[in-house]
Amino acid sequence: MARVALVTGGTRGIGAEISRELQQAGRLVIANYAGNDAAAKAFTAATGIAALKFDAGDYAACEVAVRQITAEHGPIEILVNNAGITRDGTLSKMNREMWDAVLDTNLGSCFNLCKLTFDGMREKKFGRIVNIGSINGQAGQYGQVNYAAAKSGIHGFTKALAQEGARFGITVNAIAPGYVDTEMVRAVPADVLQKIVARIPVGRLGHADDIARGVTFLTADDADFITGSTLSINGGQHMY
Ligand code: CAA
Repeated sequence: MARVALVTGGTRGIGAEISRELQQAGRLVIANYAGNDAAAKAFTAATGIAALKFDAGDYAACEVAVRQITAEHGPIEILVNNAGITRDGTLSKMNREMWDAVLDTNLGSCFNLCKLTFDGMREKKFGRIVNIGSINGQAGQYGQVNYAAAKSGIHGFTKALAQEGARFGITVNAIAPGYVDTEMVRAVPADVLQKIVARIPVGRLGHADDIARGVTFLTADDADFITGSTLSINGGQHMY
């Protein structure tokens, strides 16, 4: 029977490509989304992948969703914590809401969904967790104290949970994407983005499938000796 995979933020951007590639790898994929119903509907129509609406930053909402997925399809064995938002601004212009929104969605969601699926993975003696971090969590980025803190937190979270999962066949890894051609990156002011791209050694933005390929690799059944690692996929922009 196909293993059940949950991809948060899985109907758009990098997440949509992750969902598609996991489906191609034979997984039963559920793609979570938070707000954009039209995009989710179009994604499901194009791929046949079920989309499930809930706020991954809200623990109670995650609890309901995990219960529903488990009842309908069985326990989640592959979890990709991909959901992420930006609320960029220099510290002097950043308010508490911008901080909380980014921390809750980008980092809180990892806690929520790992917490709610980990025991099930332990029972099965199998689990694959991939947390999507960022180059900006590794290197920092002007105007992103919230995002860099959350993404950096993801990298620490990954290394800690990897140690807890190792004895139970659960691997926990992170991917640190660089600048990938998605709506999130297209929202960066054009002049700023131009300067960023000029610093990417391979000379282009990443594509969503550059990242999705890494997820498929790390979630393979036989990838059981890779845990606690961070795979940087950034065109050589930051070598860490
Ligand atoms: N280093 C030093 N100074 C910088 C700088 C940098 N990297 N970037 C801008 N500045 C300077 C400007 O030159 C300007 O200086 P002057 O006032 O002397 O001209 C000043 O900072 C502008 O400061 P403001 O606070 O007025 O800036 P702003 O409010 O207009 O915008 C910003 C600031 C929101 C951070 C904007 O520069 C921005 O959007 N930057 C891009 C941030 C970014 O890379 N986000 C990534 C989003 S994608 C993503 O996060 C995905 C991923 O994982 C990679």
